[in-house]
Amino acid sequence: MKFLPLLLISGVFASFTAKAVEITITCGPSGSDVEFCLKHAQAWAAKTGNTIKNFSPPTSPTEKLALYRQLFAAKSGDIDVVQIDTVWPGLLKDHLTDLKPYSKGIEAEHFPAIIANNSVNGKLLGMPWYTDAGLLYYRKDLLQKYGLRVPQTWEELTQSAAKVQAGERAKGDSDFHGFVFQAKAYEGLTCNALEWVGGQGGGTVVNSDGEITIRNAQAAKALNLAASWIGTISPTGVLNYEEEEARGVFQNANALFMRNWPYAWSLMQKNDSLVKGKVGVAKLPGNPSAAALGGWQLGVSKYSKHQAIAADLVMYMTSASVQKSRAIHGSFNPTLTALYKDKEVLEANEFMGALAEVFANSVARPTTATGLKYPQVSQSFWNAAHEVMSKRATGEEAVSKLESRLKQIRRKHW
Ligand code: GLC
Repeated sequence: MKFLPLLLISGVFASFTAKAVEITITCGPSGSDVEFCLKHAQAWAAKTGNTIKNFSPPTSPTEKLALYRQLFAAKSGDIDVVQIDTVWPGLLKDHLTDLKPYSKGIEAEHFPAIIANNSVNGKLLGMPWYTDAGLLYYRKDLLQKYGLRVPQTWEELTQSAAKVQAGERAKGDSDFHGFVFQAKAYEGLTCNALEWVGGQGGGTVVNSDGEITIRNAQAAKALNLAASWIGTISPTGVLNYEEEEARGVFQNANALFMRNWPYAWSLMQKNDSLVKGKVGVAKLPGNPSAAALGGWQLGVSKYSKHQAIAADLVMYMTSASVQKSRAIHGSFNPTLTALYKDKEVLEANEFMGALAEVFANSVARPTTATGLKYPQVSQSFWNAAHEVMSKRATGEEAVSKLESRLKQIRRKHW
């Protein structure tokens, strides 16, 4: 016991003498992402005496991945802390530091499935930061006005959207749309299209045994239905929408339905939101509803010159207090299981409790089966969906061509 003060003093001394460094993190650039990410990173900096530099990445996860791969190939130390999409740990495994020496077992308090996803060859390559699942946002006031319920199938969504759009336009609101979502040719379209296909019995493109399953009548039909939305219940511009474009239209009170991730909820509640108090959140249509699983982790680049300090920032950013604050103010779903019992978190985000089953059953993209070839698989899938929606192919043609393309990518094995 009598050594304790001495130890404490030397601990304090050590932290004061450690040279302060600048840590570069990739926050943003869109929505509340940059705001919350930087706020907490700066709080860590103030606490530790280090400084933070932001390296603002592109919005699209597809472009983010390309950028990281370029930097990693050059063994660049430009970025210390990297945001890692749920579909990337396997792809980036050679360039990320094992966080186990820094996590001190705290990973046991996060969702086991996410920790398993982030672990490659026994190394923990990313600490879970937040988890995502596709959700259906709807205008409560308008469904009530037109006597409609929350749609249970994609067909029902199509019909309700057409009815309300016609009604609102007849009233003079010529910019009003039935449904907005993400249909630009990028990773987000893979998520959306998996939800239509999966929710209509068409499977997951490649199944867990690695078999290519996409060439089936239900998948073709689901893509044809999505194509029928373009220029009818959805603006043609949706073919170039990412998450933020869809949110812009919906939050300006110009759409009945929107498919988006949980982060959009907190932004709907802001004073500048034209739909404040009018929005409901439900599981996506489908039988079964097939919400895509998403989410982000924080990892440390192997080429960082300050790995231990960068890891300290990662541990801080993924800690309970930061996850709780991000959940309450930014509606980012925590990855720490205990926070789903937190009163303040649940009060700020009713859907986190009410839709627990959506988060538990969300559908993973086929990364496990396709391994390092996943980016090619995903790109082929989003291109096929984009072609159908741009009326350059029918759903039947597209799934048949996609099957051949995937066989080429797979060759003998994934
Ligand atoms: C969200 C998800 C991520 C997904 C991306 C697609 O950020 O969390 O997993 O890849 O959207 O745009």
